[in-house]
Amino acid sequence: MSPSIFLLSALAAFAPLSFAAKPSAGDPCAAIAGQTFVLPADALACLKSFPFNETLRQNVLTDNIARVFDFYTFEDYYLNSPPPFQESTANIRAGLAKINTTKYATDYDFNWDLYNFITQLNDGHTRWFPDCYTSFQNLLPAPVVTLEVDGVQAVYITPDLVDLVELVGTNYTDLITIDWQRLAGAKVVEIEGQDPYAYVDFIAKTVSGNYLDHGVRVNSVFSSYRLSGDAYSQRFGDLAGPTGVAQTSLTFKLIIVNSTKVETVTVPYIASFIGTPFTDQASYWTNNCAANANTNGVDLKVNAAKLSGNVVPEARRQPKANIIDKSNSSAVGLPPQFEPTLPTIGTDASGIMHSYILPGNETGVMFIGSFEGDFDGFQTDTASAISAFQAAGVTKLIIDLSNNGGGFVCLGQFLHQYLAGTNFGYPGFQSSARANPLAQKIVASDIELGLNAQFSFYTADNWAFLNGTQMLADYNYMTPDAPIVVNGKVDANSQRFHDTCELTFDVPIPATPPFDLKNVAIVTNGNCASTCAMFSTLMFERHQTKTAVFGGKPFENVEYKGMAGNQVLEWTDLDTEVKTANLKDDPLAPADLLVSGDMRHNWRTAWSFFNEQEPIAYVSEQVPKLRFPYTKDTYNNPQNLWLFAEKTLFA
Ligand SMILES: *[C@@H]1O[C@H](CO)[C@@H](O)[C@H](O)[C@H]1NC(C)=O
Ligand SMILES: *[C@@H]1O[C@H](CO)[C@@H](O)[C@H](O)[C@H]1NC(C)=O
Ligand SMILES: *[C@@H]1O[C@H](CO)[C@@H](O)[C@H](O)[C@H]1NC(C)=O
Ligand SMILES: *[C@@H]1O[C@H](CO)[C@@H](O)[C@H](O)[C@H]1NC(C)=O
Ligand SMILES: *[C@@H]1O[C@H](CO)[C@@H](O)[C@H](O)[C@H]1NC(C)=O
Ligand SMILES: *[C@@H]1O[C@H](CO)[C@@H](O)[C@H](O)[C@H]1NC(C)=O
Ligand SMILES: *[C@@H]1O[C@H](CO)[C@@H](O)[C@H](O)[C@H]1NC(C)=O
Repeated sequence: MSPSIFLLSALAAFAPLSFAAKPSAGDPCAAIAGQTFVLPADALACLKSFPFNETLRQNVLTDNIARVFDFYTFEDYYLNSPPPFQESTANIRAGLAKINTTKYATDYDFNWDLYNFITQLNDGHTRWFPDCYTSFQNLLPAPVVTLEVDGVQAVYITPDLVDLVELVGTNYTDLITIDWQRLAGAKVVEIEGQDPYAYVDFIAKTVSGNYLDHGVRVNSVFSSYRLSGDAYSQRFGDLAGPTGVAQTSLTFKLIIVNSTKVETVTVPYIASFIGTPFTDQASYWTNNCAANANTNGVDLKVNAAKLSGNVVPEARRQPKANIIDKSNSSAVGLPPQFEPTLPTIGTDASGIMHSYILPGNETGVMFIGSFEGDFDGFQTDTASAISAFQAAGVTKLIIDLSNNGGGFVCLGQFLHQYLAGTNFGYPGFQSSARANPLAQKIVASDIELGLNAQFSFYTADNWAFLNGTQMLADYNYMTPDAPIVVNGKVDANSQRFHDTCELTFDVPIPATPPFDLKNVAIVTNGNCASTCAMFSTLMFERHQTKTAVFGGKPFENVEYKGMAGNQVLEWTDLDTEVKTANLKDDPLAPADLLVSGDMRHNWRTAWSFFNEQEPIAYVSEQVPKLRFPYTKDTYNNPQNLWLFAEKTLFA
């Protein structure tokens, strides 16, 4: 350690003393307790009332997060992210070391710095969520959209502003101190003194996270339609609905509808509380910040015995690949007049998709909001929608993946297999995990303990050899490792393997494609995460499926897939692996968190079919170039968008 680093960390260690004597002028958390909507400054006063604590920093940063990063498949890619993903370049270890030695006044300042650093890796699978400080979503009564009007694209305040914001409720609107309704549809000329698209770029770079591609993040800055569960919703977007309470207002220069005059309007944010209720500072900490029974993992050997008197858990767990979008937990509805008016067809057992037949009976639409719903229900819904399409003589299929946050890895492969037919063969990618020393010990220990996929995602029976034969649970695919070289660094990986999703499909899959695959098209805003990105990449790489991307900044690329890692492990999942393998005492094992939070990470790589040396996450796939701006008719109206797509994509 260099002397200056020592000095800084020594100073930091003394910091709690100087903040121990807090002003006793009231309890800033009691002042906002019990209210769903509060001013961001008042929320921040509560969040900043907890002094910096070096013990917690070392627990979170050194003993937990730095060790979780040992498992992160893309660590070395960050050293020099390939074009067009250069913005996501970071030296992760140097970044952590800097946060380790920065002097912070409050626990919030430390955690928020760490939250931003990890968010800006732009990998939705690899995030730090300190529950204490992600408990508010700021809401600006002025979500923005990018629209083409009379052939010119520009940024507008969302035209359906009044209907949308009223859905948040009067407890929200009562706190807004300006005449916000008149902003509906206003043309935005400047935001915070910058060109509106430049400010959108700034939010995409500093707030959005989740997606490696800048263009995809630009679309998450704007307001957009989505399914939240199976309900239609309009996402406020990352400018108008960011996590946290960092900002109190935004200043716009804009032109109100039917006016020609540019005026300056400062719009206040109001913070919406999405955490666990509390009454004062102490209970805020206990209920939102301190570790609880669900924060850390469990030894599944012990747990299964406790729960069922049986040492074998009920069933094999399903691998997941999804993002966590905090804005989904308080999702605002899509104003009902913009929901599809066509009747839905097929079953709704998954709770995440709606299917329709467009007028004329030529085109079916499946709007798939995520891959997160009921696992068997998703399979039933797919089969029932497709048989209804066939019964109606439908020959074309549009799949809407807008704002699909991903979900079960195997449901993405199921949908691909269903559309491609079983004759197509293996419906997934080659995959691998990092073979760091602790990962190697976990696999070796699982083998020694006789564990299998019911206990562990690490055991080999989760996977198949590349020839399709399922591995036996006691096969060691981690040792010897298969090194790869990334940005000049040698990284130990496991052997390559295939998923074994077909073992969990329980709806019969047709042998041949139900539709000519040339007549299948995907529409998306690029915010298509994880399982969604793997599904759309499979459709493109294996079938050259037409993929139309809507929105984005004019003349700037938007990838059609957002974030194509592979399986994500939450902190609890990784800790459960370590504890179940009896390795919690290993010096390499990440420590239990003392605070409530989740350091999730991308645990497996999906390798591109086009180039099996490249993770699909890093393959820029800009073809086929079907790119459309949103219009006033389509930005919040899925049915209008599908009618446009039917006319345009199948012409
Ligand atoms: C810092 O946090 C630890 C762990 O929660 C706690 O034991 C300790 O009392 C805290 N230190 C201060 C100065 O509050
Ligand atoms: C943080 O600093 C402490 C004290 O110097 C050191 O022991 C620890 O390894 C550092 N952690 C990281 C992640 O740099
Ligand atoms: C609005 O706030 C009041 C007072 O806090 C509360 O009683 C009421 O339930 C809230 N209304 C809604 C719709 O949440
Ligand atoms: C969004 O929220 C809905 C309703 O709470 C939930 O069913 C769904 O799983 C969530 N989806 C995501 C992607 O977080
Ligand atoms: C703008 O002008 C049009 C045409 O005169 C009118 O129909 C519309 O109601 C006006 N909108 C607003 C917000 O004043
Ligand atoms: C589409 O199918 C429905 C239901 O079978 C039928 O009532 C309708 O007439 C059909 N429309 C066209 C244009 O064929
Ligand atoms: C598949 O490959 C594995 C490992 O090389 C081998 O043990 C197995 O026999 C092969 N299965 C078939 C059906 O060829």
